[in-house]
Amino acid sequence: MARDEEAAGDRKPPSYGGEVNAFIVTTCIVAAFGGLIFGYDLGISGGVTSMDSFLMKFFPSVYRKEVADQNQNMYCKFDSHLLTLFTSSLYLSALVACMCASTITRKYGRKLSMLSGGLVFLAGAIINAAAVNVAMLIVGRLLLGVGVGFCNQSIPVYLSEIAPAKWRGAMNIGFQMMITIGILAANLVNYWTAKIPSGNGWRISLGLAAVPALMITVGSLFLPDTPNSILERGDAAKAKQMLQKIRGTDDVDAEFEDLVRASAAAKKIDRPMRRLLTERRYRPQLVFCTLIPFFQQVTGINVVMFYAPVLFKTLGLGQSASLMSSLITGFFNVVATFVSIYVADRFGRRSLFLEGGIQMIICQVVVGGMIAGSFGTSGTGQLSTAAAVLVVVFVTGFVMAFAWSWGPMGWLVPTEICPLELRSAGQAMNAGVNMFFTFVIGQFFLSLLCNLKFGLFFLFAAFVVVMTGFIYFFLPETRNVPIEDMGEVFRRHWFWQKYAVDDDDDNNKGGSAPRRSVELK
Ligand code: BGC
Repeated sequence: MARDEEAAGDRKPPSYGGEVNAFIVTTCIVAAFGGLIFGYDLGISGGVTSMDSFLMKFFPSVYRKEVADQNQNMYCKFDSHLLTLFTSSLYLSALVACMCASTITRKYGRKLSMLSGGLVFLAGAIINAAAVNVAMLIVGRLLLGVGVGFCNQSIPVYLSEIAPAKWRGAMNIGFQMMITIGILAANLVNYWTAKIPSGNGWRISLGLAAVPALMITVGSLFLPDTPNSILERGDAAKAKQMLQKIRGTDDVDAEFEDLVRASAAAKKIDRPMRRLLTERRYRPQLVFCTLIPFFQQVTGINVVMFYAPVLFKTLGLGQSASLMSSLITGFFNVVATFVSIYVADRFGRRSLFLEGGIQMIICQVVVGGMIAGSFGTSGTGQLSTAAAVLVVVFVTGFVMAFAWSWGPMGWLVPTEICPLELRSAGQAMNAGVNMFFTFVIGQFFLSLLCNLKFGLFFLFAAFVVVMTGFIYFFLPETRNVPIEDMGEVFRRHWFWQKYAVDDDDDNNKGGSAPRRSVELK
């Protein structure tokens, strides 16, 4: 809303010292490597589960059914719960891991969570590549999930804290960038391994997950801990030195003063997750940390990420054209993420959310309409090649819109709106809800498609209408606002101000982000 833009986003950047330097850029890139393991997972399983050799070895009944299937209804062709469980189970263990990681991240530092995530993921990749039975596959998947959970909980927190306010958006989006690169890398690997004649290509696909795992494991050993986290664990002198180092200047007093206050407030808080869930003052954080990840998943993005080759194939493209089309959408997914890196800190988070939402609705309605026109409710029919190409174009338009809006903003906004005392719990909530709905979409999309038919695309579009309205009315602009000053943004928001608590109340009750001395207007 115009008033909020004025209240928050259009204010002058605050007077913290420090600029982007080589140290901080390298640090952020290394930390964002964690996004690679998540992306690789998202991208790899769809291809692997479509490899005949993999199906014959682990899911022979699914394979037999697929070969014998004479079902002409394209909406119901690939509906198999057992197989989708292989893909989606990972996100259930990630959900549990996010919650455990929250405590480790808070008590022992962001780095330890990243290191643990990398190591467990590595073990999962090795077990999966060596799998001789379904049990090994499942154990491997569960370990991969634990790794993803730890990294997705800790890395966005780490990036938001280490970046200077002015560049926080761009640096945090490094995480999403790595997710998209991971997805593309997985698509490319599958494209190649599917053609390996021995039939063991899937082992390479699953085993190569060890590469991003090693990158984040080794990388995290060299990462500095964030000043916020060092302070939270009680070493003020070291925290200040670290802040000077990452900001590349000794002039960090204003920012350090804020960190000290935030940390003092954080120390008074025990059981942050319970407080997030129950205290009225944290209602905005609770709402955004649960609704943003939910909305992110009900855009239907992972339908494309998991099932694009299958979808394109059912629409009439050949096997190889389908895989190629998925590579094209994967490529534009990466390219479009660059747009958000450029725009987020210049024009704000709201503009990306709103434009992305509108573009996604248009693309979903067009794709749904074309499928309805050609396949109707019976699911039989054929798209002409030109129409199939048009579908690929609109799916790509949808992926690009997501890639510069709900993709990166879905990881950035929840971390930056939480005060220090809640940050770890808030991100656990965000990542946990995200994992849960990734699981739901992975597990139930194919049956939903079978039941709702083309209507499913309109259902996703309807969700995007609702969530775009939600952003328009309820999300204040957070661009350029120092992370420990975020409370001020909510105090000025037309709706959230009634949940805001003043400094005096903070002192009395012990908590919430402190109001600081930097002039915000
Ligand atoms: C989402 C994933 C999605 C990916 C696509 C991420 O932000 O959390 O679920 O697959 O973006 O690039």
